[in-house]
Amino acid sequence: MTISFDGQVALVTGAGRGLGRAYALELARRGCKVVINDLGGALDGESNDEAPAQQVVNEIKEFGGDAIANYGSVADYEDAYNMVKAAMDTWGRLDIVVANAGILRDRAIHNMAEEDWDRVIDVHLKGCYTVVHHAWPIFRQQSYGRVVLASSNSGLYGNFGQTNYAAAKAGMVGMINVLKLEGEKYNINAHCIAPAAATRMTENLMPAERVEQMKPDHVASVVAFLCSRECEDSGLVIEAAAGRYGRSSIVKGPEVNYDPSEVPTVEWVQEKWGEITSLDGAEPMWGIRETRKQHDAAKAKSG
Ligand SMILES: NC(=O)c1ccc[n+]([C@@H]2O[C@H](COP(=O)([O-])OP(=O)(O)OC[C@H]3O[C@@H](n4cnc5c(N)ncnc54)[C@H](O)[C@@H]3O)[C@@H](O)[C@H]2O)c1
Repeated sequence: MTISFDGQVALVTGAGRGLGRAYALELARRGCKVVINDLGGALDGESNDEAPAQQVVNEIKEFGGDAIANYGSVADYEDAYNMVKAAMDTWGRLDIVVANAGILRDRAIHNMAEEDWDRVIDVHLKGCYTVVHHAWPIFRQQSYGRVVLASSNSGLYGNFGQTNYAAAKAGMVGMINVLKLEGEKYNINAHCIAPAAATRMTENLMPAERVEQMKPDHVASVVAFLCSRECEDSGLVIEAAAGRYGRSSIVKGPEVNYDPSEVPTVEWVQEKWGEITSLDGAEPMWGIRETRKQHDAAKAKSG
């Protein structure tokens, strides 16, 4: 069946360019009304320009969709409030938040200035908190919401020179781990997308023929599905790029048990190190107390 967003409203941050633009266009083509947020900055977060957000609004209007522009910064608490307010003032609802705005300030850790650390954490990690925080009461009240945070394989696995960026991107996984719990009884689902696409952030890193292939549209299909009523999962990390989609997960190993009435020696730890670090039969968790499998089984049983 066709997946439609008729009657729904989304806020997509950093939607003036690259991946955010593709997400916004895909949602709008499927009937979603969209707040196109983008402060139009340079890749390092400096400067402002209203043109990118306005251009995406124009594109959406050209094919008969509905969108408004917002030029605030996701790193600013009040600006983020105003993004959510813009949706409510214009259309009276908000169903979806895609927190996608991002900048880059790559440096090896010994060269990482405090400002490079703070700016990246502010835009990526605080920029997820601000928009989700302001949208959440609306989602709770209407017992419906969809959240997608733009993470990265840099945070999931590591990429040289990106401690600031990777810390923020891994922090988003921490966020959805909790949002999935806080949103569960209100039908609010939260996911991370770890995309790879040719945008101004990455196009210098790939050969020309790959740039042609790595269109953000490939990622947009997955993000739109995660934003849909039809996607009932929550708390997933999905990797998406041209030609490959898949799931990534933090898993918990089987653990080694011992009698806690005695503290093990350091030598005992050394002896058991292979077993302690084993991931044989490791499982994704649902919160700190149960595996996802246990949670799903209990949920299915309670109907
Ligand atoms: N391109 C990739 O392969 C890739 C890989 C992993 C993760 N990501 C993530 O996906 C997201 C989108 O990246 P992209 O490649 O499309 O980059 P991009 O630079 O093309 O787009 C990012 C947009 O965010 C906007 N922005 C920056 N700071 C902002 C702020 N404070 N408030 C509002 N808007 C702001 C920029 O003006 C820009 O238009 C980013 O979070 C990025 O880290 C991208």
